[in-house]
Amino acid sequence: MRYALITDHIVAKLYGKKLCHHLHKMGYDIALFSFPAGEASKTRQTKERLEDGLLKHHYSRDTTIIALGGGVVTDLAGFLAATYCRGVSLILIPTTLMAMCDAAIGGKTGVNTPCGKNMIGAFYLPHAIHIHPGFLKTLPEQELFCGTVEILKAGLIADAELFFNFSSFSVEEALGRAIEVKRRIVAHDMHDVGKRRFLNLGHTLGHAIEAASGFQLSHGKAVAMGIVLEAKISHRLGLLNTTALSHIEAAFPPVVLPCPYEAIMQPLTLDKKGRFSFVLLQDIADPVVKEVPVAIIEEIVHDAFMCTC
Ligand SMILES: NC(=O)c1ccc[n+]([C@@H]2O[C@H](COP(=O)([O-])OP(=O)(O)OC[C@H]3O[C@@H](n4cnc5c(N)ncnc54)[C@H](O)[C@@H]3O)[C@@H](O)[C@H]2O)c1
Ligand SMILES: [Zn+2]
Repeated sequence: MRYALITDHIVAKLYGKKLCHHLHKMGYDIALFSFPAGEASKTRQTKERLEDGLLKHHYSRDTTIIALGGGVVTDLAGFLAATYCRGVSLILIPTTLMAMCDAAIGGKTGVNTPCGKNMIGAFYLPHAIHIHPGFLKTLPEQELFCGTVEILKAGLIADAELFFNFSSFSVEEALGRAIEVKRRIVAHDMHDVGKRRFLNLGHTLGHAIEAASGFQLSHGKAVAMGIVLEAKISHRLGLLNTTALSHIEAAFPPVVLPCPYEAIMQPLTLDKKGRFSFVLLQDIADPVVKEVPVAIIEEIVHDAFMCTC
């Protein structure tokens, strides 16, 4: 068996080179392949460059890809493993909180295109996932925040204790519970035709806010606002009670929306039906998918926008 350790330049410097050297000394036939860090690298072009590198070094079907890094690395190297020689063995070693609790779990792999994020990819399960919270010691604060938002989201979808007692759990406990929420949902709906949609809580408005900020706002900050606004929509529709809404508002930073208001609403008003499908909450840990009239979304976003100014 030959091993190809795929990572980004930042993680290569921090951990990849040492890990590769260590495994090599233990007798593994292993080499490191890396690419520039960041979402901009999650493309077909980067995948092609890595594939050409592997082909040049005569990697064949007896290859194991080790993806070491954040969600960009696990998504990209996972997709590469799914298609290289029609599918080779894959091991994921996530190094961000986001990748540990979300991206590395559930078998979705892929790359971005100019027409949209994650538009080309495959469902491909790894043969093993190794999670070591020790990697988090070097993770920047902003990246830790992104992961924390996804863990709280997991609590809001299916684990009320995780949501309410988050601060009293150790990182390992909180991670374990968030992973279990995703594992259970994916076990019932691997191919995203039913309950897997619940994992999009906060992401419909979150993505709109992230895009409206010209991607200046981090995914975590935008999704945190998306969760609060979608909880307000749930409350406005009479699904969620006032106490639950205030718990959610207290768990996330205040909503401060980027300008202009129209940019946030644009992807939602493009939809001609006048209604938009959302993951809403009937209670903490009780999600539901509902069609929401655009007028109500406009009202909630507009109110939040006025409070921002
Ligand atoms: N497949 C899925 O189900 C799924 C789910 C959620 C998110 N995602 C994808 O995950 C990606 C985002 O993942 P991410 O937030 O991990 O971003 P990322 O992979 O870009 O990592 C963030 C930054 O942290 C650096 N980094 C990684 N580990 C580090 C460490 N231990 N110490 C210091 N720096 C470290 C990286 O080099 C990068 O600069 C997006 O592309 C998103 O689409 C996929
Ligand atoms: Zn997310």
